[in-house]
Amino acid sequence: ATSLRGLAEAKGRYFGTALTVADLSVSGETGIAGAQFDMVTPGNEMKWDTTEPSNGSYNFGPGDRIVSFAQSHTMRVRGHNLVWHSQLPSWVSALPLNQVQGAMEAHITTEATHYKGKVYAWDVVNEPFNEDGSLRKDVFYNAMGSNYIADALRTAHAADPNAALYLNDYNIEGQNAKSNAMYSLAQSLLSQGVPLNGIGFESHFIVGQVPSSMLSNMQRFADLGLDVAVTELDDRIQLPAGSTTLQQQATDFGAVTNDCLQVSRCVGVSQWGVDDGHSWIPGTFPGYGAATIYDSDYQPKPAYNAVVTAL
Ligand code: XIL
Repeated sequence: ATSLRGLAEAKGRYFGTALTVADLSVSGETGIAGAQFDMVTPGNEMKWDTTEPSNGSYNFGPGDRIVSFAQSHTMRVRGHNLVWHSQLPSWVSALPLNQVQGAMEAHITTEATHYKGKVYAWDVVNEPFNEDGSLRKDVFYNAMGSNYIADALRTAHAADPNAALYLNDYNIEGQNAKSNAMYSLAQSLLSQGVPLNGIGFESHFIVGQVPSSMLSNMQRFADLGLDVAVTELDDRIQLPAGSTTLQQQATDFGAVTNDCLQVSRCVGVSQWGVDDGHSWIPGTFPGYGAATIYDSDYQPKPAYNAVVTAL
């Protein structure tokens, strides 16, 4: 039978999905996940609020369940994520600023050590940028300035030298102020010998709005000697979705897949979730949905067929 994972692997790529612990009890999702995808990103289970809800007490149970599902289905895991301003427990932002670096390093070291050998890659710093290309003034920035990013990457590398270390963000898929800032940061980190291996392009798109500069933009990062990956692809539609929009969505998914295939250092594409019925989109963008390649009856949509054709 046709599988995205088989087609992707034949091209030296992966095709992934995101799964939460809740998804693991939904047989419609797990059936598709194991058959079609060969990379798993935990939807929430490796984020700081889950893994270290209070200072120094760690909870790897939920993340371990995702890893174990992946292993039993011969899927790899993208670790997501070590440092992020969101889904950050309040104890971190309440720390005196002179204790933030220590807490960040301890968190990275403990989590990356726990998952050492089990994750293909880590999103070490997630969503560091504002839309204008300035760094977010979060607790990490306030404590350490822009140095927190290099420090996080070095700390992760020391804990798991074999994991590919990524910076991941959204609205950096096309060439714009935010992706230019990511590009400058990547250049600067590499010139200082900081262990940075890849850039993740989240790719939470609105139907019909895949940037035409996505291919050239990913290529310029690859030309720095970095891997690139499409890490959280979805393509939301204002509901109800009609056949014209679903066809445009197919065009969009095909275009993103093709863009990745045309960049030799694009290692793979991950969709954020399995199916429309369990996607995060309706809960976060009211009025929008139908953002994935499977409908809520687990049937492949035109976008699925477009990915197959592209692969
Ligand atoms: C989302 C999850 O899917 C939701 O369940 C959660 O409530 C919020 O976070 N960028 C990221 C992901 O890097 O971690 C986010 O995941 C989606 C946006």
